[in-house]
Amino acid sequence: MFAKEGLQGVVAARTGLSRIDGERGVLAYRGYSIHDLAAHASFEEVVHLLWYGELPNPAQLVETRHSLASQRALPERVADLVTRAARDGAPMDLLRTAVSAMAIGDPDLHESTREANLRKGFRIAAQMPTVIALQDRTRQGLPPVRPNPELGHAADFLRMMTGRPPEELAVRCLDVAMILQMDHGLNASTFAARVAAGTLADLHAALTAAIATLKGPLHGGANHDVMVMLRTIDDPARAADHVRAALAQKRKIPGFGHRVYRTLDPRAIHLKELSARLAQASGQEKWYRISTVIEATCKEVKNLNANVDFYAASTYSMLGFEMDLFTPIFAASRAPGWIAHVIEQHTDNRLIRPNEEYIGPPDREWVPMERRT
Ligand code: COA
Repeated sequence: MFAKEGLQGVVAARTGLSRIDGERGVLAYRGYSIHDLAAHASFEEVVHLLWYGELPNPAQLVETRHSLASQRALPERVADLVTRAARDGAPMDLLRTAVSAMAIGDPDLHESTREANLRKGFRIAAQMPTVIALQDRTRQGLPPVRPNPELGHAADFLRMMTGRPPEELAVRCLDVAMILQMDHGLNASTFAARVAAGTLADLHAALTAAIATLKGPLHGGANHDVMVMLRTIDDPARAADHVRAALAQKRKIPGFGHRVYRTLDPRAIHLKELSARLAQASGQEKWYRISTVIEATCKEVKNLNANVDFYAASTYSMLGFEMDLFTPIFAASRAPGWIAHVIEQHTDNRLIRPNEEYIGPPDREWVPMERRT
């Protein structure tokens, strides 16, 4: 039987991680609504929830925080690689290469038990923000900022980027944005991770495949393209005409539409709120205001809803990130979800290998070189 194009509607894995109801706009991690997690949880709590199945008690949270915070510093060879390529490498390419390079010398590389995957998972998830910050500072000619294990994941990420103690609002906004992006069913990058893990390839290999897959503009790359659009429009008064013209020419508007949601993406509600709070606090309202006009016009003209990437762009921009860092931040946010999926896959593995329908020429006879025209 031939599945619909793009495997739409095909159930290709079982998961206990996230539940999505695309008709009703529901997303829950291990049974907890994304709305509750966005309101109350920290990045570390949600990592614990995904990896161990339950919300942590206070002692478990201390341990999970410590396991992440104490492993933020990069192995020397990875730091060296990032530093050398910082000016020439695009951040998403360098992050993918750095995660792949983290495999070299990892003491658990060839073991894929749950315990070994968790040990590797802590190291990878802890170090991805360090890679992003190190590259960004190095390419600006700034000295690297060493991790501070006293700080939480989001706070230290911001401090390693700027070299300054981050503001409370910025920390909370990044924390929530990272939670919102942590897991999302069998999205394309997670599927790629599971396909790699399904061959019994190791965690680093699976994450490298996932980062490669997230890069595309139909997936994680969309947040970058949203920022390009906001900059092109540059003035709220021009936003509606820009969108109408693009839709009339059948162009896709980045940050809109979704394979699964038929209504508003529940993550977009919170990202819009974060964007509004940052706009108000900073007094720079331009990106937020342009975004609201684009959102209203897409809804009016084509009944299109914003997805997770749309308000992530203005949020990240107001947090001070360059736009080529948006997709790497998405990768650092999604990493705990990918790791949880690889653990699920390795725990109950079967090679993922669908069939294909052949549509090429029928069988034919070999043609010797002298008879070919
Ligand atoms: N802008 C304009 N029209 C869009 C659109 C968008 N962003 N997203 C979907 N549509 C329209 C398509 O043109 C198509 O309309 P048609 O039936 O009149 O031809 C219809 O909606 C279905 O879109 P399709 O691309 O077939 O859906 P899909 O499930 O294959 O794709 C996405 C889903 C996410 C890839 C698609 O919505 C998209 O390309 N969005 C922009 C990129 C993006 O934001 N990606 C991040 C996703 S979280």
